[in-house]
Amino acid sequence: MSSEGVIFVSVESMSFTCGVMFFSFTLFFSCFSFLLFISRMKLWCNCDTCKSYLTLSWCAKFPNLCDWYTHLLKNSPTGTIHVHVLGNTITSNPDNVEHILKTNFQNYPKGKPFSAILGDLLGKGIFNVDGDSWKFQRKMASLELGSVTIRSYAMELVNEEIQTRLLPLMESKTAQNAVFDMQDILRRLSFDNICKFSFGLDPGCLLPTLPVSDLAVAFDLASKLSAERAMTASPFIWKAKRFLNVGSEKRLRKAIEVVNDVAREMIRQRREMGFKSRNDLLSRFMGSINDDVYLRDIVVSFLLAGRDTVASALTGFFNLLSRRPEVEGLIREEVGRVVGQAHGSGFPSFEQLREMHYLNAAIHESMRLFPPIQFDSKFAREDDVLPDGTFVRKGSRVTYHPYAMGRMEQIWGPDCMEFRPERWIRDGVFVPPCPFKYPVFQAGIRVCLGKDLALMEMKSVVAALLTSFDVRVVQPGQEPRFSPGLTATLRTGLPVRVSHRKP
Ligand code: HEM
Repeated sequence: MSSEGVIFVSVESMSFTCGVMFFSFTLFFSCFSFLLFISRMKLWCNCDTCKSYLTLSWCAKFPNLCDWYTHLLKNSPTGTIHVHVLGNTITSNPDNVEHILKTNFQNYPKGKPFSAILGDLLGKGIFNVDGDSWKFQRKMASLELGSVTIRSYAMELVNEEIQTRLLPLMESKTAQNAVFDMQDILRRLSFDNICKFSFGLDPGCLLPTLPVSDLAVAFDLASKLSAERAMTASPFIWKAKRFLNVGSEKRLRKAIEVVNDVAREMIRQRREMGFKSRNDLLSRFMGSINDDVYLRDIVVSFLLAGRDTVASALTGFFNLLSRRPEVEGLIREEVGRVVGQAHGSGFPSFEQLREMHYLNAAIHESMRLFPPIQFDSKFAREDDVLPDGTFVRKGSRVTYHPYAMGRMEQIWGPDCMEFRPERWIRDGVFVPPCPFKYPVFQAGIRVCLGKDLALMEMKSVVAALLTSFDVRVVQPGQEPRFSPGLTATLRTGLPVRVSHRKP
């Protein structure tokens, strides 16, 4: 054998040995971590809550997990419960919420388990990080979102989408007298808006043919599969599947690649054509950030933040409105009064939307009963005691539950299950809620940065639709059933019929 051959064989056998060593190390490390995880986890617990959770017996009485948790929280003297097998403390107590989100904020970061679950999709974007990286993005994003230029730009985009796509589509549905899924239409509308706002890209989801957008499909699949990681019995399962690139993890990787390709292409185009005169978030952020991967991560977080939240809130709103037609009349009366009878030719300005106190109240009221983000978890950095006396162990999960909180008699009174916008109005003026009793936009230090934009978009859509159309839910009063996921989505959509508004 030539010396070249000897070298080749020894290099080959060396790399084989290294491969075996690496594999053995990985296997050993995974087994060790798994055992450590098991030893810290409570696999079985005999308490009623855990038994009901593990055997799924709650399903017999409640349509959704959030309804069962609401029932348990209502019956808890402190407004706090424990699902021991999940290591999860769930609370609907406003004092606890204030403690977690404000007073002892430092002790309740998003934490590693959450970041790992969404890490492949969101990278180091604002939604998925704590500490300095979060502080930097928060500061930069609040400056941008608070600017008049960005606010006007967002308003322009929303009005354009309503005028050129939503209203013509409603005209054609009216002409066909068709039953269609309003949730789907609202998701298309909010995806077009958030893509234009974040990337300066128009996916055209609400064009008359209602086309399938590869980006929307990939983004939805990536969000869904990422959320499903949280449902596996142990994180080792999805991590092993990701390592082997099989099943749902293979599909997730592919979906994220589609999102990445779009982001890369948008960033390349901006670099080539210039970004200084543009107002989308990507262009604005490019002024201070050079790292393309970081830019991608930041903008994808905004897509997630604005994609389904607004659509979910509007779906809940139209569903509730069908139960109280007199609320519809009062909104119309207010829109007519504020904008004037010539409203048909124009859209309310930002200032006019602000004057619509009753519409604001109706939107807040619908999100009280149907918050787009039903619960949100943090992970305790150190041992702690909540204001209601609950002990929280270091590393455990603590969840506040806006869905349950919106249904608490202690917070909203005996008529808490009624859709009653009037509860928000004093002397004709909207009274903002205490954020820790109504953490629909989260509250405290990490409160939602898009709240004003989201409310502007929702008010604009409702005002435009109700001015010209009657929107009728086909089966009003039907018990909503939600799909599992990051944002509340109705499993069967919201079938409606629209017609021209009756005088
Ligand atoms: C009805 C609509 C919306 C609701 C109910 C809502 C609710 C929330 C909630 C509960 C959080 C906290 C999530 C967490 O920390 O896990 C959040 C964070 C955030 N939201 Fe919204 N959101 C809405 C719309 C929007 C829109 C349209 C945007 C962007 C234009 C946006 C931007 C953000 C950002 C950037 C954060 C992260 C803030 C931080 O971590 O410091 N949101 N939102």
